[in-house]
Amino acid sequence: MYNIRKITDDLFYIGANDRRITRFENQHPVPNGMSYNSYLLLDEKTVLLDTVDKAVGELFLENLHVALNGRELDTMIIQHMEPDHCALIPRILELYPRVKVVGNQKTFGMIQQFFGLDLAERAMVIKEGDTLNTGAHTLRFLMAPMVHWPEVMVTYDETSKRLFTADAFGAFGAVNGNLYADEYNVDFDLLPEARRYYTNIVGKYGRQVLALLEKIAKLEVEMILPLHGPILRQDLHYYIEKYSKWASYTPEEKGIVIAYGSIYGNTEKAAELLAAKLADRGEKNIVVYDVSAWHPSYILSECFRFDRLVFACSTYNTEIFPSMEMLLLELKGHNMQNRAVAVIENGSWAPQSGKKMRELLGQMKDMRVLESEISIKSAMTTADAEALDALVELIVAA
Ligand SMILES: Cc1cc2nc3c(=O)[nH]c(=O)nc-3n(C[C@H](O)[C@H](O)[C@H](O)COP(=O)(O)O)c2cc1C
Ligand SMILES: [Fe+2]
Ligand SMILES: [Fe+2]
Repeated sequence: MYNIRKITDDLFYIGANDRRITRFENQHPVPNGMSYNSYLLLDEKTVLLDTVDKAVGELFLENLHVALNGRELDTMIIQHMEPDHCALIPRILELYPRVKVVGNQKTFGMIQQFFGLDLAERAMVIKEGDTLNTGAHTLRFLMAPMVHWPEVMVTYDETSKRLFTADAFGAFGAVNGNLYADEYNVDFDLLPEARRYYTNIVGKYGRQVLALLEKIAKLEVEMILPLHGPILRQDLHYYIEKYSKWASYTPEEKGIVIAYGSIYGNTEKAAELLAAKLADRGEKNIVVYDVSAWHPSYILSECFRFDRLVFACSTYNTEIFPSMEMLLLELKGHNMQNRAVAVIENGSWAPQSGKKMRELLGQMKDMRVLESEISIKSAMTTADAEALDALVELIVAA
């Protein structure tokens, strides 16, 4: 049975949810599933904006067939060639042999790579600023390279002031019936997964996201239609503001992330004590994460959110405790920068984790490591607790 959502008289949502997926990109846990959005514009010409992941391909094809209601599919716009959106391209070409495919030079290179297809005269190769008139609507294409992949572009409907943004403004999590973000409790039910999606999937490419935001600022936009998660039609400023913070590696607000890796619980005690002392000093927004219990995608997302970060961990075979090392490598890989950072190490015979954590932090841009050497030898002493007091002052002042 099809499941089509009407956005306006001539625009339909024909995407679908995958609630069985456990890890997006076979990497990030998605406990609330994932939506793969696709849009169909029924103008004088019929226009499909992106296909979906193969997991929801059958429902998508049925939705498309029913929504077309006997009409031909004239145009398919490919904004992004990652398989979570492009998987159904070959099926569309088979089922709708007259469809013209709109993409940029890079799009068609990737269609060739993924599917071995040369679209020849079916390809409509566009570049920055080109437009396509579909009858009542004029669509303008804007390149958004590396807002996730090099071939990414977004589509601005000049007539209805709607912006189709590909992965930008997307979120982890299925669309729960409500198609619009304003129908959710945004701060609790959307923002955390939108942040985790952005920071983990696109977070590395802040500069390129800022370039896209500059282009968007010149447009009059009333609706943002991403390829994952709900559609935005209210408070667009709120989301754009979040994006400009994330993209410029600016903390959203004051707060402290304490991430710890501990084998027997001694480093954990230090982390808990530090959190309590910071709270007693009046700090708010303190979040504590056991790096072994949480997938790094969650902690990375919190590091984008807050301004001060503490990493505490045991030494493990002369190295950083593995799940802490993984977290730090993820932070480095996502260009995490511009934060005040503190390090606490532990070791029973030759503590090394502090030095090695500092080395990794030193490879990141503008990570200001606080002048504090807390090196616990197995279990915390009174002297260590006093050193924590001194660290609290440095963190408060940072
Ligand atoms: C597999 C393994 C390797 C370890 N390697 C080191 C090491 O190279 N140097 C060191 O000083 N301590 C080493 N330790 C000891 C732990 O670092 C130390 O006992 C721990 O930091 C205590 O803190 P915790 O209770 O938070 O785990 C190792 C422990 C284990 C289990
Ligand atoms: Fe993508
Ligand atoms: Fe995507």
